[in-house]
Amino acid sequence: MPRVVVFDEFGGPEVMHVVEEPMIEPAPGEVRVRIEAFAVNPLDQLMRSGASPAPVPLPHARLGVEGTGVVDALGSAVTGLEIGDPVILTAIPDASVRGSYAEYTTVPASRVVARPAGLGVVEAAAVWVAYSTAYGALVEKAGMRPGDHVLITAASGAVGRAAMQIANQIGAEPIAVTRHTAKKDDLLAAGAAAVIATDQEDLVEGVRRHTGGAGADIVLDVVMGPGQQDLLKAARPGGTLVAAGFLDPRPTPFPRLPLTIFSYRSFEHTLDAVAVKRMAAFLNAGVRLGALRPVIDKVFALDDVVEAHRHLEKGLHAGKIVVTA
Ligand SMILES: NC(=O)c1ccc[n+]([C@@H]2O[C@H](COP(=O)([O-])OP(=O)(O)OC[C@H]3O[C@@H](n4cnc5c(N)ncnc54)[C@H](OP(=O)(O)O)[C@@H]3O)[C@@H](O)[C@H]2O)c1
Repeated sequence: MPRVVVFDEFGGPEVMHVVEEPMIEPAPGEVRVRIEAFAVNPLDQLMRSGASPAPVPLPHARLGVEGTGVVDALGSAVTGLEIGDPVILTAIPDASVRGSYAEYTTVPASRVVARPAGLGVVEAAAVWVAYSTAYGALVEKAGMRPGDHVLITAASGAVGRAAMQIANQIGAEPIAVTRHTAKKDDLLAAGAAAVIATDQEDLVEGVRRHTGGAGADIVLDVVMGPGQQDLLKAARPGGTLVAAGFLDPRPTPFPRLPLTIFSYRSFEHTLDAVAVKRMAAFLNAGVRLGALRPVIDKVFALDDVVEAHRHLEKGLHAGKIVVTA
């Protein structure tokens, strides 16, 4: 029987365990995907520990909002897909029921897109959430254009690296933020036009220096918390800040500067078929041109999923953590 990762109570990584379950048939309009690999996201950690913004019904909750595999069965009324098609799962909103931490899952056919040619299974598992979030926040929300100075927080993380690559693909200038000087060279090699390491440098002064005193046109904030105050000061008057993550659990003071501020969740675009088509086209073009390529930190086997979460919680990863099913 197919194996699936479930948890029956909230807690640390050890609450997850692998069980065997009967194969589920796809309902009308759904496809069943034989999953080859899935990526671990900070949202999974929040869901598992009981800190998720959306309620997670227990017991027997599943996890996993993205992954890749092969179409294995088609429900009635599904068109445009064939059994055997390699696909990626484009964000699963009801991950606690259909999560990708499994050998099989069923999802609405609209939730899969063709696996970009040129990506291996591990990279394909890691591509959608980070790139759709960075693309949606910077392009769809903030309207990023060539020449824009884009300040990118947590740049060594998965969304941050995707954001730097997307900014470069469009001709904008990514300014990376990290808390550690030791990561500077890696971030420059990953495409940053400049890096501000906040353990040694003042963020606002650094941005002014790199932008000729003007300030950043766009800020991508996936950290939030009190540090957002400096990001707001580092933006140019009339600039745009997109808040898309919450790595810092401390409260975020109310912003009082003349900026446009968006809050962004990728689900707002990844549940929209037209936006998904645009995102997939952008992603495919970027992969084909060699501009977009996910960075993989470490790969685990399904039996080691608890270790994969422990690795995420250590916070020392640089890029995506992937599990092969
Ligand atoms: N809006 C959406 O739809 C959406 C989608 C995907 C992800 N997200 C959110 O976006 C955030 C980033 O996701 P990700 O996958 O890129 O995470 P990630 O890969 O785990 O990011 C890791 C990096 O974030 C930085 N970091 C971690 N904790 C931090 C803190 N307290 N303050 C400042 N920097 C910190 C560290 O960089 P340094 O050590 O170099 O500073 C670390 O290397 C998460 O909150 C995630 O839930 C949102």
